[in-house]
Amino acid sequence: MSNAVTIDIQVEQQAAHQVLHINPQGSGGDRALRGTIQIPGDKSISHRSLMLGAIAQGETRIQGLLVGEDPQSTAHCFRAMGVEISPLNSTLVTVQGIGLGNLQEPDRVLDAGNSGTTLRLMLGLLASHPDRLFTVTGDHSLCRRPMGRVVKPLQQMGAMIWGRQGASLAPLAVQGQRLQPLHYHSPVASAQVKSCVLLAGLMTEGETTVTEPALSRDHSERMLRAFGAKLTVDPHSHSVTVQGPTQLQGQSVVVPGDISSAAFWLVAGAIVPGSELLIENVGVNPTRTGILDALMAMGADIQPENQRDVAGEPVADLRVRASALKGCDIGGALIPRLIDEIPVLAVAAALAQGKTVIRDAAELRVKESDRLAVVASQLSKMGATITELPDGLEISGGSSLNGAEVDSYTDHRIAMGFAIAALVAQGKTSIGRAEAASISYPDFVTTLRGICP
Ligand code: S3P
Repeated sequence: MSNAVTIDIQVEQQAAHQVLHINPQGSGGDRALRGTIQIPGDKSISHRSLMLGAIAQGETRIQGLLVGEDPQSTAHCFRAMGVEISPLNSTLVTVQGIGLGNLQEPDRVLDAGNSGTTLRLMLGLLASHPDRLFTVTGDHSLCRRPMGRVVKPLQQMGAMIWGRQGASLAPLAVQGQRLQPLHYHSPVASAQVKSCVLLAGLMTEGETTVTEPALSRDHSERMLRAFGAKLTVDPHSHSVTVQGPTQLQGQSVVVPGDISSAAFWLVAGAIVPGSELLIENVGVNPTRTGILDALMAMGADIQPENQRDVAGEPVADLRVRASALKGCDIGGALIPRLIDEIPVLAVAAALAQGKTVIRDAAELRVKESDRLAVVASQLSKMGATITELPDGLEISGGSSLNGAEVDSYTDHRIAMGFAIAALVAQGKTSIGRAEAASISYPDFVTTLRGICP
């Protein structure tokens, strides 16, 4: 009998949804993953390039933009406000900027779909456009996510916003105003909150400052500067100040690959015995590389190669080779640096020897799904020993996983995280509502097939 293992991957359409079946076939043997992977563009940087391009003067040219559903939502909203944006599925995307303060009142409801970044960042711009009324909404998941965290500072700046539960849930109506500057001390380390207030500050006479409890991703700061905003950063107090009003100039933007998408392959390469993967063109901005720190602390063999700077963002190729992992403690300031990678990190922890404790991550409860509850319930179905904590997860790793029927809860990072868990499971795993992956990674299954035996 040969030792060959093949991993059978099938996508089954069931009415409006897809089920992703992953079935490692053949016993024992080598399941090793191999290949060179190109990942899609960074989602956070893609949104920002479209938005800043829209409100800048002149043309913005974007290479490497993520052609996922979330950036499509951003493009859709800004087109409805009079901005010309070329189709997103071309190598070079152009945005014809209309200049600061010139977004038009749309004659329809702006739909941010599943995208928290679209809705929260856009609210800062809408609230600061006087004499225009905007109505905004999103899908079922987005309409359950907290908007009070951005509505509150905007109201302190004088914004007029209405919605359910004291304007803390979409749909929302926004009557644009001339706003007052603010020094906002955010209770959460959130790049969406920070960016929303800074974008409102762009249109506002005076200095608008955001101070956050720990540093969140700084893509807005980098890109605002590159577009010509008057911006100062105090790294010691985690404060950013924008001096308004500032006119922005259209730029050429090169979007690096998304480390949050690379994370699936980093974990896959680390946990499937014998694997070696090279993931090219990964954005390694230090506010995003917590996943590398955590995996390396667990004993993962990850080598950055060819480190370089591309249009103001650090980039590297990452080589990962399988190795034995051990559990570790994850919390504090590391959390904002790997917030989106925790579902797939939990998969690595389930395979690692010993205990992994993730704390300070209550934010995961208000992502596209309640990621603490969903990871705990679905990973348990695969035989993992995992306990949900109020602000994290406790995972006792080291036992093998078995195939199971799990559900994505329409959350892209859950769908993809469980596809990685399926690679090391005994028997078939079926992931319900797996089409969610298209939010940030439309080619996920194609790439997965390409590296599997
Ligand atoms: C994002 C910030 C993070 C992250 C999200 C994208 C951004 O959210 O989870 O996927 O582009 O600013 P929070 O700001 O809510 O932490």
